[in-house]
Amino acid sequence: MNAIPVITIDGPSGAGKGTVAQMLAARLDFHLLDSGAVYRAAALHALNSQADLADEASVVASLDTMKATFKPHSDGVQVFLNDRDVTASLRLETTAAAASQVAVMPRVRAAVLDEQRSFRKPPGLIADGRDMGTVVFPDATLKVFLSASVEVRAARRSKQLKDKGIETTMASLLQEIGARDERDSTREHAPLAAADDALIIDSSDSSVHEVVAEILAAIPTLNMAE
Ligand code: DC
Repeated sequence: MNAIPVITIDGPSGAGKGTVAQMLAARLDFHLLDSGAVYRAAALHALNSQADLADEASVVASLDTMKATFKPHSDGVQVFLNDRDVTASLRLETTAAAASQVAVMPRVRAAVLDEQRSFRKPPGLIADGRDMGTVVFPDATLKVFLSASVEVRAARRSKQLKDKGIETTMASLLQEIGARDERDSTREHAPLAAADDALIIDSSDSSVHEVVAEILAAIPTLNMAE
């Protein structure tokens, strides 16, 4: 059993996982794994390599030439693909859609498993994703499943994108998020689902600070409650 503590935060896109994970990592001085960025990087690399995103073998073959580096950053994570900073392209909705497409492929999921587990280093890790508690870190110290209504999530995503200068409509966001939820939760391999032993939090009517406080209070051995 690995003694390094891991807190997993799984849930659908726009539930606030990223912000909550960053705040927890800063508060506990833990490492941070943004596993969505790992899938986004794999998808972007596949696209850049002209791989056929509908063909698992083609996507897996493209990963052979991928060298991804993830650097902690005040705004989450800075990502380099073969030494080129791709952080901005990674956040685009087109990249998110491509990530969701390659994330259904079991061989892609298997290929990024070790990379994700390598983030588990002392003093501890906050891991944000869809299957962190169910597949990647089943022995996590605390598993959280963070959700929110689709309308709240679309509104949050719209604000996030606007802050980055990216304009979009509410209707297209609702449609994209709905489609992504459907694909992420109905896929055969490691679907988006709460672990049996997860603490389930609905953040629709809560601030990030309230969610962070609830998680800190629930950490069993670290006793970090504010
Ligand atoms: O969290 P995100 O929006 O950056 O994730 C992008 C896509 O990657 C998402 O649609 C599903 C996939 N993903 C996954 O399948 N498993 C994870 N642990 C994280 C992300």
